[in-house]
Amino acid sequence: TQQDVRALVESNLATIPDFPEPGVLFRDLTPVFADGPAFHALSEALVEPFAGRFDVLAGVEARGFLLAGAASALCGAGLLPIRKAGKLPRRVLREEYALEYGTAALEVHEGELAPGTRVLIVDDVLATGGTVAAAARLVERAGWRVAGVSVAIELVDLGGRAALDDGHETFSLLQY
Ligand code: PRP
Repeated sequence: TQQDVRALVESNLATIPDFPEPGVLFRDLTPVFADGPAFHALSEALVEPFAGRFDVLAGVEARGFLLAGAASALCGAGLLPIRKAGKLPRRVLREEYALEYGTAALEVHEGELAPGTRVLIVDDVLATGGTVAAAARLVERAGWRVAGVSVAIELVDLGGRAALDDGHETFSLLQY
């Protein structure tokens, strides 16, 4: 059950105080990735709520690639890498988003998927929501449909859900 997956993932999660800066409690998924059953269960749990409602999984560089890649292999769906700016070789669409200091940008290839393709956006952590909101804008501008947003960890106090202003269905396995 989802309760069992939560417990398995949580028991493998590392929590590091004062990283990357004082006062921040960092949730590190690398021990979950290192544990076969936990990684498998987490990848499955992220797509299960959206079963039958997506065609392709989109992973956000870099940590989202791991989860979207594993989940797409498990369920037989295609994978759309949503990349940091400057990495993709063909014509791209670009969306900027705010960081604590300055901005960053995400890109996808124009025309990578057929019009109307249903895309489930996967990432490791939903914090302020800037990253997945930019990913969702990219998917829509490209002419595809956002099937939802699925993340392993939601940092609730940072308000990421509200930042996804188009009201995309959002699933998180763990909330802190
Ligand atoms: C982290 C994380 C999410 C994003 C969440 O990525 O993997 O993608 O931040 O933050 P937000 O909700 O406030 O936008 P980061 O930009 O550190 O990149 P990485 O995965 O390449 O380490």
